[in-house]
Amino acid sequence: MRPLQHLFGIADMDREQIEYLLNLGESFIDINRRPLKKAPTLRGKTIINLFFENSTRTRTSFELAGKRLSADVINISASTSATKKGESLLDTGQTLAAMQPHVLVIRHSVSGACEFLADYLGHTSIVNAGDGAHEHPTQILTDLLTLRCAGGYIGKTVTIVGDIAHSRVARSHLLAARLMGYQVRLVAPKTLMPAEVERFGCEVFHEFDDAIPGSDILYMLRMQTERLTDNCSFPSVREYHEAYGLNRKRLQAAAEGCLVMHPGPMNRGVEIATDVADSARALILNQVEHGVAIRMAVLTALCGGQQHLGRPGPSKKMTMEAMHVQGSLL
Ligand code: NCD
Repeated sequence: MRPLQHLFGIADMDREQIEYLLNLGESFIDINRRPLKKAPTLRGKTIINLFFENSTRTRTSFELAGKRLSADVINISASTSATKKGESLLDTGQTLAAMQPHVLVIRHSVSGACEFLADYLGHTSIVNAGDGAHEHPTQILTDLLTLRCAGGYIGKTVTIVGDIAHSRVARSHLLAARLMGYQVRLVAPKTLMPAEVERFGCEVFHEFDDAIPGSDILYMLRMQTERLTDNCSFPSVREYHEAYGLNRKRLQAAAEGCLVMHPGPMNRGVEIATDVADSARALILNQVEHGVAIRMAVLTALCGGQQHLGRPGPSKKMTMEAMHVQGSLL
């Protein structure tokens, strides 16, 4: 298998690497259910979680994943980091890398922030925990593990509904679907659907009800209001729920046994009705549980069998000076 040095996104991965992480993740599910949730796998390893955006489940699951495997885990959030004092992302990254962690887990609002940093942080492995509207690979691995445990994803139709334009989850699923053999339908109002998204090989719908028949999984997304640059991209919350919210009636119109997923955080009464969110068809809490197992797998793969791919040093496309005067990323 092609060794993993970093986890930037599904775009850099092949099927074998994804299956390897799913197998490893599946083997960790049991550890998390034991009364004593501890294994020595990552003893002596240091992991830093550096989060510049809010997060509950992703940050907590990376922290639990590291701790349950006996790593030393440090959490830094934007509100307490030196970036609040004007330090650039590059300087923060290099400062933390100088402390010799094995893995830096990063969530940042700028797409490509992880790849950018990787060129400057020596041998520290970087995990993308969500970069802008770009990718969110550990969420997709989590979803695939959840679907595998619920009967499989191959040949299934996954209908992703909501704010596709700003969703890194939707984007990573589009890339994973091609590799792993499932179909994606996208549903959004025209204002929240990226242009020419059909080139990813998905079906595109603007009416939710047209996309429901034949859907095996209804995957609901939150409106990413923090990334909306205007306030006219969607109607009122009530209208949005009428047109794009998942309710019982819609769930019944889908394929038999259709399952419901959501990466969280969910807004009840907006993209999903409470009775559906709490129904036996919803895998939402299974996703949360499997998120810990997948992050254990990712950290193990990066720390354990860590072999360097011989990435080239800093790309000379931009000088360091140029980097330091460039906008928000720095
Ligand atoms: C998603 C994210 O951050 O991209 N959530 C998550 O990581 N569980 C989706 C979202 O914020 O709506």
